[in-house]
Amino acid sequence: MMHKYFARRPWNVFAELVSHYTSPDDIILDPFCGGGVTAVEALKLRRKVVSVDLNPLATYVTTMEVTPADLDVLQQSLVRLGQKVKNTIMSFYVTKCTECKAKAFADWIEWDEASKRIARLKFDCPVCGYSEEKPPHQEDLDLASGFEERLADYAAKQKLWYPTTKIPPGDKTSSLLADGINYFHELFTKRNLLALALIRSEIEKVDNKTARTFLNFALSSSLKWSSRQSHMRGQIVEGWAMHAYWIYPKSLEINVWNTFERRFQAVFRGKRYGNQHIGKCSLVQSFKEVQKTPLSCLILTTDSARLPLPDSSIDAVITDPPYGGNVNYAELSDYWVVWNSRGKTTPKDEEAIINKTRSKTLKDYQNALYNVFRECHRVLKPGHAFVSTFNSKDLRVVASFVIAASQAGFALHPDGLLYQKPIRAYTTTFHAMQIGAFVGDYIFTFLKEDAIDVDASAAAQELAKCKSYLVGLIEKGVKTTTTEPELRERAYRVLIPFISRYARAAPSSCSEAVDFFETEMNLYDNHFREIREKMITKRRTYYRETNRRHPDQSTLDKVVPIAKKRSRH
Ligand SMILES: C[S@@+](CC[C@H](N)C(=O)[O-])C[C@H]1O[C@@H](n2cnc3c(N)ncnc32)[C@H](O)[C@@H]1O
Ligand SMILES: [Zn+2]
Repeated sequence: MMHKYFARRPWNVFAELVSHYTSPDDIILDPFCGGGVTAVEALKLRRKVVSVDLNPLATYVTTMEVTPADLDVLQQSLVRLGQKVKNTIMSFYVTKCTECKAKAFADWIEWDEASKRIARLKFDCPVCGYSEEKPPHQEDLDLASGFEERLADYAAKQKLWYPTTKIPPGDKTSSLLADGINYFHELFTKRNLLALALIRSEIEKVDNKTARTFLNFALSSSLKWSSRQSHMRGQIVEGWAMHAYWIYPKSLEINVWNTFERRFQAVFRGKRYGNQHIGKCSLVQSFKEVQKTPLSCLILTTDSARLPLPDSSIDAVITDPPYGGNVNYAELSDYWVVWNSRGKTTPKDEEAIINKTRSKTLKDYQNALYNVFRECHRVLKPGHAFVSTFNSKDLRVVASFVIAASQAGFALHPDGLLYQKPIRAYTTTFHAMQIGAFVGDYIFTFLKEDAIDVDASAAAQELAKCKSYLVGLIEKGVKTTTTEPELRERAYRVLIPFISRYARAAPSSCSEAVDFFETEMNLYDNHFREIREKMITKRRTYYRETNRRHPDQSTLDKVVPIAKKRSRH
């Protein structure tokens, strides 16, 4: 992965969808392109693609993923940049090798946030090759303390820029603001801020556009690691991985040059892969050009409720919308956007999301989805497919998605609900281990078909049947070790077609079905929690017994109180 974007979806699922629903040279639309998985898979399979996202970080990452690059130019650009700034930046992290006493460089420095003291640092010695975590010596403390002035000095003399934007109030920023961190630059130590600003200013001077663009991309990618949000996860150095802003009690100050180099290598590998699998695709500026140009890609940073595309011009919509308030894309992306857009933040007004700070309710979320889906319906060719992954622990959120699509004019395909089991890697992520999260995805297939007349008067009777079926299903389920996601999956097979069918003719029956199911499930909250805890224990034991160090183990033990607070999303 070249750059972080939140909630990326498995590429192989999207590759399947692309090849199943389209043919080469077809035009695919993704109105919520996020990290660009649809675009990459579409181009790999020789389809054209229109990728849209409101969030400039999403379209930036997508653009960089599909832009072809000359690998020699990239390689040389890193060498040249290194000649300009590497020594200066490495000198910010200089320390003494405990083995041979030569000059060595810290790869990271761990801070105790409460006392504002260095707890330990890890160095690599370029002379004897020794590497160790050691307590700080006086010279390490002295070096660290001088950066306030050095930053001010450099900034004044060399006109260095770094974002000084205020952190906007938000659902995911409130804990930072409460801790007195009010500006994005306060998420960085002065040393790392200076290092980042120096690299940035040197990149601006690079003449070659490809080199400059990809160096900037690598710098942006390295931000995940260079702030105080980095921390140790057991033995693993971890960058910012939470879906909220958060500084751990023990934070890491990671060597900015080393991180930049590592991220540059990741970008390089990504481009080598892209050159092999996508090759020379054309990034175009208008839909007319998409139609004319083979293997082309149009990327738009805009609200997908208004698309500059003609009616009935798209062969398939393949997308992954936001799942309610699951991830606050715009709030979280600000962290990168302020760096990449000279201090500007992400537009948030039109974001389809549930967000307390912005008073965006489930209803607002549904409306926003509806506006986008109506537009998808307009631009899609008749009879063609609108395919979307979706998931939420809360049926209310899933239902609002189904209602939005159905009210926009789409009909659920008779086999239009597929459950995609979580891929193994996802069942062991921090989130999944912690809360037994709902990690698989549903794949919904809708069609743009003439609306069929639905008899609203049949809704009440069907609702009654549906309710009694659900009661039986739940009662049977709780007598066994069935997990909540498994039970929901079975229930959704009945509920989703019902909701989709009556979304327009009898919306109140749909709400009643949803409320009924959630109320029934609530009764068994404790039961499902126990099952979930047993499952988590089983997974942990498995890792212990097979003597594998689970990457999440130590974090799990440490941060349970935080996770509990956040566990109901
Ligand atoms: C779940 S993400 C997509 C994830 C993506 N499939 C991936 O693999 O990374 C949903 C995206 O919808 C975008 N979004 C939300 N409201 C939007 C709107 N009104 N118009 C366009 N994009 C929107 C968000 O910015 C976010 O990037
Ligand atoms: Zn040494």
